[in-house]
Amino acid sequence: MKFKLLTQPKGDFLAVSVFEGEKTDYPSNLVKNFLRENPKFGKRYEFQSLYSDKEKILLLGAGKKDKFDFELLQNLAGTAVKSLATKTKTLSLILPQLNRIEEVKISQAAVLGAEIALHDPSKEYRSELEKVKLENVELVVKKVTPELELGLKQGLVLSEGVNLARRLADLPANEMTPSFFLEEAKKAARENKLKCSFLNEDQAKKKGMGAFVGVAQGSEEPSFMIALEYSGSQSGKEKWGLVGKGITFDSGGMSLKPAQAMVEMKYDCCGAAAVLGILVVLAKLKVKANVVGIMAVTENLIGGKAQRPGDIVKTYSGKTVEVLNTDAEGRLVVADGLTFAQKDFKATKLIDLATLTGAMIVALGDLYTGAFGNNPKFTQDVIVAGAKVGEKIWEMPMDEDYEEMLKSDFADINNTGRGGSMADRTAMPVMGAKLIEAMVEANRPWVHLDIAGPAWDLKPKPYRSVGATGVGVKTVVELISHA
Ligand code: BES
Ligand code: ZN
Ligand code: ZN
Repeated sequence: MKFKLLTQPKGDFLAVSVFEGEKTDYPSNLVKNFLRENPKFGKRYEFQSLYSDKEKILLLGAGKKDKFDFELLQNLAGTAVKSLATKTKTLSLILPQLNRIEEVKISQAAVLGAEIALHDPSKEYRSELEKVKLENVELVVKKVTPELELGLKQGLVLSEGVNLARRLADLPANEMTPSFFLEEAKKAARENKLKCSFLNEDQAKKKGMGAFVGVAQGSEEPSFMIALEYSGSQSGKEKWGLVGKGITFDSGGMSLKPAQAMVEMKYDCCGAAAVLGILVVLAKLKVKANVVGIMAVTENLIGGKAQRPGDIVKTYSGKTVEVLNTDAEGRLVVADGLTFAQKDFKATKLIDLATLTGAMIVALGDLYTGAFGNNPKFTQDVIVAGAKVGEKIWEMPMDEDYEEMLKSDFADINNTGRGGSMADRTAMPVMGAKLIEAMVEANRPWVHLDIAGPAWDLKPKPYRSVGATGVGVKTVVELISHA
């Protein structure tokens, strides 16, 4: 799709936003008449097409004016694009410019929303599709400024990263195998001058990644611990280490999931997909930072070679883990990924992204990512970066007292937590975070993002189709670009 900043709309369809309880100053009788008859119009993301001989207008509900923010603007643009994609070739979108949002972020949000809305995960599979006509989006503003131009370009790159992460996670597990993921990482590296290296299962085993290999051994598909490096700063002292959980399918292993809980588990690689998306965006935006992205990619399957409950594995950090439940596999692969980032790539600041626990969704729904950290300032920085780009993150507790439940009778720690009043269901998201924290070396700021909730949608939104959302990409890019 092509984007242009203009002060006068030229397109054949015009999208006009209406705030709840406010009048629009757009001079059109069509709009005025409609609003006179529908004074309550304006709720978030409701939309209505209005036609006359001269005009084609899409009215967009923008919600309450004092709640307007980046996320709302992004989704408003998305709603316009999604509802008109098959109906018009050129859309002129009048951007509400409120000083609640920085100028550069206004065009960034609009472009992101538009590109995200156009991404259709069913495209490659359905035999009959309605043809998309939309090619041009005009962003109508009061004045075209360099800030707005910059935001437009950033929005294009960001949406590429977000949609890449979505595409990878949406692919069904019969296509998205760990080998397929590796090919995608290599391709991204070639196209963006990133350095790509990886360990196969044998190499990971020799290196001592017993936790990763313990999960990987149950699958016939080859598994990979992938590293993508971006060097964008010669003087920078900080090295960011991003680690993504890349379970291309999570059956639960021997601690098998019930059928209903298994259907969505192709999405269990959303963390690794986000890491790949982030590296691509950082490289394309030439952000001044040095980053290594580790993607721990394997299936978690059941079979003669699969790990058993009670197995004890030795992590790459040297700590041993008693695997009480093979379905708590994410923390195991992330654990070795984190050590890989520290030992082999000397990462100084760490973030991991993982669809780690169902209980995170029980707690916060699909709205919020849970953040767990060892450094309050760093955790806050991550949360603030998320808020700037419309990704909601909530800090979760990490009190030392939780560690009691991580004790094992045989090994250094266990992988589920136990002894709490709800047995292995007690404080599940915290126990996952605590196991991962045990891999973090002293004085390294680290944040674990449990993205289980917002990583994918089961129902379409007015501004986005069903499936993976690419959550995490915007937040981490925002954080690293402004550090
Ligand atoms: N991939 C799942 C977590 C998950 C479940 C994410 C549903 C999104 C939706 C993870 O590997 C898992 O199975 N976790 C267990 C941990 C438990 C066995 C301690 C869980 O959440 O039940
Ligand atoms: Zn699992
Ligand atoms: Zn999992």
